[in-house]
Amino acid sequence: MGEKTHRPPVWLMRQAGRILPQYRALRSKLSGFKELVETPHLAAEVTIQPVDELGVDAAIMFSDILVIPEAMGLPYELIEKKGPFFPRTITNQADVDALLDGPEAANELSYVYDAIRIMKQELAGRVPLIGFAGAPWTILSYMIEGSGSKTFSKARRLLYTNPAMAHQLLTKITKSTIAYLKNQIAAGVNIVQVFDSWAGVLPPEMYNKFGLPYIQMICDAIDEVPVIVFAKDAWFAMDDICSLDCNVVGLDWHMEPEPFRAKHGTNKVVQGNLDPTILYADHSVIKQRTNDMIKQFGGHQIVNLGHGVYPDTPLDGVKCFVDTVKQYEFNKVV
Ligand code: CP3
Repeated sequence: MGEKTHRPPVWLMRQAGRILPQYRALRSKLSGFKELVETPHLAAEVTIQPVDELGVDAAIMFSDILVIPEAMGLPYELIEKKGPFFPRTITNQADVDALLDGPEAANELSYVYDAIRIMKQELAGRVPLIGFAGAPWTILSYMIEGSGSKTFSKARRLLYTNPAMAHQLLTKITKSTIAYLKNQIAAGVNIVQVFDSWAGVLPPEMYNKFGLPYIQMICDAIDEVPVIVFAKDAWFAMDDICSLDCNVVGLDWHMEPEPFRAKHGTNKVVQGNLDPTILYADHSVIKQRTNDMIKQFGGHQIVNLGHGVYPDTPLDGVKCFVDTVKQYEFNKVV
């Protein structure tokens, strides 16, 4: 909310997951990732693990951005050591026409809302709960490519070869995402984050046409709770992102605090943005870098990494990061 605090709050993207031995132990007993996502009490358990183990200031619901394509009619799989995979992808207009959208799609995800209710009950007000969704461009990319990609060339080429179909697909995704986030809020999340993980693969002109307007629609529709927009590698679009009707702008590690503040002032709370690989370094380095970053952002910051924590990060490095933030005091030279 941009309120003054005695120290900045801290959480980590991907805090729930393989960095924690408790997660790996639970996960090894299951058939796969989807069983965890789709079983509300298990999703709640792994959501709360980092709150207990790391002492972070927020929980982020355990789920995935890919539940939205599945709810619209394109099921996903998570292949061990390879990542997401869609057996069917969107290849033509009939595929787009066949997709569910809006509340009809969002209502397929009752396991998420059930999980949120358990999470809220088990958190019992200790820390807020963050909900999330993928940004429409990132979700479209998976629906067209069928997996991650180095270039996202199939998704990018669609914007030139069939822009009308791209806009229709983005519109359907956006309607589903708005209904989905509203259902998350009704179930109890306190703030939502929109992840545009693949913003950086588009030329600025195309991001202005096919990325930002759809994020703006989401920001316009969600007025019940604060909204965080995190667009990875979108340094070229920061002016426009800072003019979105969102409360918090997430930054990756390409953005330097002082130039960012000089250019964009303090009209938004910023979230970020330590390079996640710093957490592999000596603890003196982690402390120094974390304190320097907080000082340079000068308040109005939610401390986080510049992207999700890597799964093989040493747990004591993650703890050192969180503890350093918790020991920080504004107005005290560190
Ligand atoms: O702690 C949290 O941040 C909450 C849970 C969360 C997951 N995925 C769990 C997960 C969140 C917020 C996401 C978002 C997500 N999923 C994004 C956007 C954020 C980003 O990283 O840019 C994207 C692009 C995805 C798609 C996705 N899901 C990928 C690329 C992968 C494979 C990752 C890998 O490292 O293998 C997943 C699976 C996934 N989602 C895992 C987790 C903990 C790994 C699951 C496992 O093997 O146990």
